[in-house]
Amino acid sequence: MKVMKKIYIETYGCQMNEYDSELVKALLQKNGFVIVADNKKADIIILNTCAVRDSAVRKVSGRIARLRYLNKNYIIGVIGCIASAYKTELYKIKDFKIDFFVGPDNYKKLAQVIKKVIISNEKSDETEQLLETYEDVFPVRKKGASAWLTIMRGCNNYCTYCIVPYSRGPERSKSFKSIINEVEQIIEQGYKQVYLLGQNVNSYVDNKQNFVDLIKTISNYQQIKRIRFTSPHPKDLSMSLIELMAQKSNICSQLHLPLQSGSTNILEKMNRTYTQEDYLALIKNIKSIIPDIVLSTDIIIGFPGETKKDYEETIKVMKEVMFDSAYIFKYSVRPKTLAAKKYKDNVSEKEKKARITKLNEMQKEISLLKNMEAVDKVQEVMIESISTKKSVHDCYGRNQGNKLIVIPNNNYVIGDEIKVKIWQASANTLRGMPV
Ligand code: 5AD
Ligand code: SF4
Repeated sequence: MKVMKKIYIETYGCQMNEYDSELVKALLQKNGFVIVADNKKADIIILNTCAVRDSAVRKVSGRIARLRYLNKNYIIGVIGCIASAYKTELYKIKDFKIDFFVGPDNYKKLAQVIKKVIISNEKSDETEQLLETYEDVFPVRKKGASAWLTIMRGCNNYCTYCIVPYSRGPERSKSFKSIINEVEQIIEQGYKQVYLLGQNVNSYVDNKQNFVDLIKTISNYQQIKRIRFTSPHPKDLSMSLIELMAQKSNICSQLHLPLQSGSTNILEKMNRTYTQEDYLALIKNIKSIIPDIVLSTDIIIGFPGETKKDYEETIKVMKEVMFDSAYIFKYSVRPKTLAAKKYKDNVSEKEKKARITKLNEMQKEISLLKNMEAVDKVQEVMIESISTKKSVHDCYGRNQGNKLIVIPNNNYVIGDEIKVKIWQASANTLRGMPV
């Protein structure tokens, strides 16, 4: 019998999935499997998947079909959000011949599941929701300046459009102690930036210690030069967090604060628990403490019942806040969600397309305006890559605000912090010269 132990992992979706793939690598290596970087060299393929929009599910389905076509002997497994939310549908597609499904709470059983498939050639799945936090597993991190660290998992908010509470289960936080352990390990491994992750990162709680207590403790480690976090929910965003961000130079002055819609009527139907006025007041308070904060957001257009007037309210808020960047999505019906049960997806595809195109164009202009403000200013860049796609003579990094800055490569090393003067800005990138 051929020894099957080479595994290739492909990751889709958010940074939390990227972190989970690092956990999965650690769990598999511990069990004697070898992770390879090329699917052609692998016996077993794992797709760590996202179910947040229909397009993500279609992308993974297309990839499975392609992999099956390339090699009918591959053992193919689907893990992550699609495993918990779509396994029944995918089992039914006979041509895919998916060998196993493992959900986000069951990665500790993954090695055992794969061994079972290898030995018995039978399909297997583990997708039970367990409130797992993986606090005893240290991920195999990829090299670079930045380390991801998931501090809480799941979601209790039940926004009516969102599949996450069903695919990832209820909220639970890692223990304070285990996070600090992991931070110390990150420092030992030489990372300079830590990215705290959670579906609702700021609802973190362990006994009486909340997100502000946690980030304050982490910021006391001088070796950590930059701390970022994503994504906070506006309802849980406290001014004590913003004050701490203003005080601590290693907590980046950058915030990704999902708006979803600018219309109070739609926000209510989405169960976001804030109004347009609440959101705008929150932004005003944040800017009064950190005037130059870099803001980004998520927007959904075409939610059921979104009228032209509702859509214009979103435009109004975007113009007023002037986000540095925005991820804009077309509403996509998700199974099990309240919106799928209660509302008709009644904004036509044509209208959704027109609305998203216009918003993206508008945001591009705003992003350019915001980036132009940086021109002639001196900023600190942390190097992330020693070349760019276009040139080996350039390298790039990010400023405090998480904006990409391209500079001439001067034998820099990943993680170096360099002062640069910005001389050019586009909507997506800044260019600078070392000073
Ligand atoms: N349709 C479109 N976008 C969605 N998102 C979540 N669910 C949906 C959906 N059903 C978006 C939200 C969220 C981001 C991660 O994905 O904007 O903040
Ligand atoms: Fe996608 Fe949400 Fe799952 Fe992340 S948690 S992979 S965004 S569905």
